[in-house]
Amino acid sequence: MSGDIIRPSSVGGEAVRMRAVDKFFGEGDARTHVLKTTDFDAPLGGLVMLVGPSGCGKTTLLSVLAGTLNADGGEVTVFGERIDRMKAGALTRFRALNIGFIFQQFNLIPTLTAGENVSIPLLIQGKSNAVALKRAKEVLERVGLGHKANERPSKLSGGQQQRVAIARALVHEPRLVICDEPTSALDRENGVLVMQLLRDVAASADRTVIIVTHDSRIYSYADRMAEMEDGRVFRTLNSPDEIAAEHRGH
Ligand SMILES: Nc1ncnc2c1ncn2[C@@H]1O[C@H](COP(=O)(O)OP(=O)(O)O)[C@@H](O)[C@H]1O
Ligand SMILES: [Mg+2]
Repeated sequence: MSGDIIRPSSVGGEAVRMRAVDKFFGEGDARTHVLKTTDFDAPLGGLVMLVGPSGCGKTTLLSVLAGTLNADGGEVTVFGERIDRMKAGALTRFRALNIGFIFQQFNLIPTLTAGENVSIPLLIQGKSNAVALKRAKEVLERVGLGHKANERPSKLSGGQQQRVAIARALVHEPRLVICDEPTSALDRENGVLVMQLLRDVAASADRTVIIVTHDSRIYSYADRMAEMEDGRVFRTLNSPDEIAAEHRGH
């Protein structure tokens, strides 16, 4: 489901650099090593896909680079800042300004309308209700949901909720957009719509999109692909040609 793909004219510099990152869950006998001294990079101005089997640690890796989960070892640098060393308040501000996160479970607030959900990142940045809601409606238009701005999430299908979550991650134009399975609930047409939006973001020389996916229909949108297994990134494919060669027929 590719179509015309606009890629950034120059991919250069780093948005994300993870080095030797470890993450454990649980205690004692139940302690499991989920990220196993792994590296991961994403360039400025590019769209990176992170792929691998269920349970290999993809969501955990995204959470560590978004700063919502602390690493137990290693270095996590986002736009030149060591976020693993930031104090909680500074990290919260850094995230609110720079990162948009599309969660696997959407995480919409059930008591708020679609428009109000999408306006949250702007309210956190101190924009007025009126300004935030107007901008939220514009972004909802772009994901084909302008007419649903006043509905609550329970009135929307899974695919519509997913698009609201995507609008919320983009509304404040963060430099880093992180998406956990953004097309999992979408049909072909809406999958193309969402991927074109995410490609537009990645076409800016200073913005980066990182997508965890199982959906081989969207592999052709990637500039780079990191392949993960058992807690580590074991290979990175550095161009669309390399990705196509390794994942032909998918
Ligand atoms: N909060 C948690 N507590 C304990 N174990 C967890 C937690 N989150 C994830 N895990 C475990 O870590 C492993 C990796 O999970 P996850 O990062 O969600 O994988 P993926 O996104 O690739 O499917 C899995 O074995 C999962 O059960
Ligand atoms: Mg996951």
